[in-house]
Amino acid sequence: MKNITCIEDLRRVARRKVPRAFFDYVEAGSYSEDTLRANRADLEDIKLRQHVMVGVAERDTSTSILGQKVALPLALAPVGMSGLQWGNGEILACLAARAAGIPYTLSTLSICSLEHVAEAAGTPFWFQLYVTKDRGFAHALIERAAAARCSALMLTVDLPVVGQRHCDIRNGLSVPPSLKLANLLDMARRPRWVTGILGGKSRSFGNLHGHLKGMTSVKSLSHWVSGQLDAGLSWKDLEWIRKLWRGPLIIKGILDVEDARSAVGAGANAIVVSNHGGRQLDGAPSSIAMLPKIADAVGGDTEVLFDGGVRSGQDVLRALALGAKACLIGRAYIYGLGAGGEAGVAKAIDIIRRELDATMALTGCKSIADIGPHVLVR
Ligand SMILES: Cc1cc2nc3c(=O)[nH]c(=O)nc-3n(C[C@H](O)[C@H](O)[C@H](O)COP(=O)(O)O)c2cc1C
Repeated sequence: MKNITCIEDLRRVARRKVPRAFFDYVEAGSYSEDTLRANRADLEDIKLRQHVMVGVAERDTSTSILGQKVALPLALAPVGMSGLQWGNGEILACLAARAAGIPYTLSTLSICSLEHVAEAAGTPFWFQLYVTKDRGFAHALIERAAAARCSALMLTVDLPVVGQRHCDIRNGLSVPPSLKLANLLDMARRPRWVTGILGGKSRSFGNLHGHLKGMTSVKSLSHWVSGQLDAGLSWKDLEWIRKLWRGPLIIKGILDVEDARSAVGAGANAIVVSNHGGRQLDGAPSSIAMLPKIADAVGGDTEVLFDGGVRSGQDVLRALALGAKACLIGRAYIYGLGAGGEAGVAKAIDIIRRELDATMALTGCKSIADIGPHVLVR
């Protein structure tokens, strides 16, 4: 991890090490990628107020999320198929998060299963749920998350259908997956990646494989998943989930004040203001553009988490100043994973930690509680 000083460095290394099809899968947004670009552009537009001579020798980046003490106002977002960036990717990301003292979220569509991560990482993590039409399967997943001692359930609500990503279709990462010869040759040129993946605990959808009768191939499982997205899901279904899951519930994929109020009404202990990293509704505003209104409306009733475009500690401070309790990062740590496995994820978190700490000092903040709208130049 020498000569890596920012998230962009990790991105460049990951681009070299990860086969093209899987790197593109991470990078892409849906359709014209307007919303993907807006996530970054709007964050970059927010200017910070330099504030000096206030005595910032002692600083503390720790805070709490859902009542748990965390070393940073940060969590790792659920990212499907992370285990194809680096063998056992989900386990390694969870270990890096544990070492850094922040939460890790495992996706329903992970490569390593809930049970693999629980056993290998030996630490509580959050589990992200996509509710399937087959409610029996969703019910079983919630029970498995409880058995794996997951400390929160994160229900993702912004995926009634899948936003199209052009590159995934071109690369053969659609349903059913059928990688092109060029992609296979590209993988063969990365023997270390291949060895890592072959040595991993799973090479398919770990939470599905072995839990659905007669479905063992990636093809059949991806078919099943695409047919199982439940566009009929509504707030009424929350009652059912609330009965099954007694622990903290996070609702992810809120970009609208009315929806935020509905989530609070449905019993969310936290919401994630998110447009799925620009991968769903193309043409939607950036997450950061919607954060202040949503935080104003429901910040007193629930914890408001934020994601979308966070690539630095400066971005974390921007989001906190606009009302977020903490940020989730997706691509920023996935670049680390692709660049160097567990050490790469640790590096990504450490880069953001150092940047946040320095930015707190330069804006005159000694603690997370000191960060507020006054650190911004309006
Ligand atoms: C490759 C990739 C896969 C993702 N898979 C999931 C997923 O399985 N479940 C989910 O709730 N969100 C998923 N997301 C969205 C992230 O949780 C998060 O909202 C997003 O990455 C935040 O934007 P950022 O990447 O700019 O940090 C995915 C994002 C990416 C980039």
